[in-house]
Amino acid sequence: MDAYNNILDRKSVRKYQDKKIDNEAINKIMKAAMAGPSCLNLKDYAFIVVDDKNELKALASLIGRTCNMLNEASHAIVVLMDMTRAFPIAKNYSIIDASLACQNIMLSANALGIGSVMLGIYPQEDRVLKLKDYYKLPDGMVPHSIISLGYSDDPREKEDHFEESRLHYNKW
Ligand SMILES: Cc1cc2nc3c(=O)[nH]c(=O)nc-3n(C[C@H](O)[C@H](O)[C@H](O)COP(=O)(O)O)c2cc1C
Repeated sequence: MDAYNNILDRKSVRKYQDKKIDNEAINKIMKAAMAGPSCLNLKDYAFIVVDDKNELKALASLIGRTCNMLNEASHAIVVLMDMTRAFPIAKNYSIIDASLACQNIMLSANALGIGSVMLGIYPQEDRVLKLKDYYKLPDGMVPHSIISLGYSDDPREKEDHFEESRLHYNKW
């Protein structure tokens, strides 16, 4: 699939086959995660790669209903903002940098035939605190999102999200 159609084709996948993603594919996905742009190229992010079934189930029950698919996922990538590396005069650029890493994870996964869904953590303070506690994160590491990964068992077609009304040309 070419790069443009890969973007149009990506969709949230929440049902997975019972099939493990191999390390080679995960390494490719993580390389893509860090290939994105970041403010001043500070790379103010970090990742926890989760592939242990018990750890995936623990994450699902920690966050709750919206993350149920983690019970069946092959992997989860917990995306963190590393505020110790963030641009000092505008630290919130970390939110953007981590989001761009998330998109690269999902697009590279799709290109490799792997389904994904992004699970929101930041800025929901209760979720942020639960993950900080669970992983005993050092100061400055802030949970941003979880990306659930697995081979799709979801036959749904991708929805077309295009809305002409969102576009403005030259003036509002
Ligand atoms: C910031 C963010 C948080 C999200 N959180 C969840 C979530 O907790 N659970 C879930 O099933 N999907 C979650 N999603 C996925 C969205 O529901 C999904 O992207 C949206 O419905 C569009 O569908 P598509 O990804 O198939 O194009 C999240 C997406 C984003 C960008």
